[in-house]
Amino acid sequence: MYAIRNTKYELIMGYFRENIERAKGYEPGFQPKEIDVVKLNTNESPYPPSPEVMKVLAEIKPEQLRRYPDPLGTAFRQAAAQINNVEPENIMCCNGGDELLRIALQAFCDETRPAAYPVPTYSLYPVLANLQGCDAIEVPFDSEFNLPAKLAGTGAALTIVCNPNAPTGSFVSVEELTSLADELSGVLLIDEAYVDYAEKNCAGLVKDFDNVIILRSMSKGYSLAGIRFGYAIAQPDLIAGLMKVKDSYNVDAVAITVSTSAIKDQQYFRQNVEKVKTDREQLSEQLREMGFDVPESQANFVLAESKSYKAADIYDRLVQRNIYVRYFNVPGLNDKLRITIGTKQQNDKLISALKDILQE
Ligand SMILES: Cc1ncc(COP(=O)(O)O)c(C=O)c1O
Repeated sequence: MYAIRNTKYELIMGYFRENIERAKGYEPGFQPKEIDVVKLNTNESPYPPSPEVMKVLAEIKPEQLRRYPDPLGTAFRQAAAQINNVEPENIMCCNGGDELLRIALQAFCDETRPAAYPVPTYSLYPVLANLQGCDAIEVPFDSEFNLPAKLAGTGAALTIVCNPNAPTGSFVSVEELTSLADELSGVLLIDEAYVDYAEKNCAGLVKDFDNVIILRSMSKGYSLAGIRFGYAIAQPDLIAGLMKVKDSYNVDAVAITVSTSAIKDQQYFRQNVEKVKTDREQLSEQLREMGFDVPESQANFVLAESKSYKAADIYDRLVQRNIYVRYFNVPGLNDKLRITIGTKQQNDKLISALKDILQE
């Protein structure tokens, strides 16, 4: 049996569930092949992983590859528990934070159990909700990105709040999220993929609430986006339920070894995070001086809006200069550029290119 393609080359096979046939799929940020570009488009750390990580990577034994990995990632659970002041039973290892989002939607949502989240936010949420076949209730933030009061009353089985939020960098206070956890009848997943760069975090909520899941990623402050490792923090019963949904060996042996070593090197982690935070403030100020509107960010990126130039034009002109930032061609974001904080040198290149572009 051959797949039939229509004139627009859309696949119409009839094999897939209807929502999969219709889905466009998530569109990741562009990954240029050349390495000498200024890449500020996918919120990676501009710094290499800890030297300790490179050491354990070089010492991986053939036996570690021959065998299946530890299904629970025990070494990582222990290290992450210590750092977050919880027990290993409060931790579940994931193949990137993205896997935890998929697991949570699969665990809590279906046709009669919707998901809800404030928008604009991480564009993967609606994609995963569609794959799961559940409704996605999108509640708009106000113009200052305050948590919408209506979010507490959607009746969703799973409410997701990205904090700091992407792509805005805005931060909802721990007190507000505590009240939300208290008001919700369903589960609250707080996506803390960018919390490394924030002043506070919500891990403490796990002690008091049996409906809170914290998502963490090793892709940002720990410089391990290429390894694919994240984790959940929640009460043991919630963790045990999520474990039923994960693949049996969802994190591989190399990833467990490398991520454990990275999370243990808190000194190196803090040093890199502080550099990014300092440079974020400097870049924000420079962009503001050039006429961009840049709200305060608690993440490793800023969202910049120019009142006098089209964001899409600036984006194209930056690409011509081998500088990549992120442009979202969707209502509410299509007048803005999301810029990852790079090294000082990369940020300087960006600023100097923008100065040229704005004079053209
Ligand atoms: C808001 C948000 N949540 C979760 C993730 C998942 O990160 P990862 O799968 O790399 O751990 C990302 C990745 O960029 C993100 O932006």
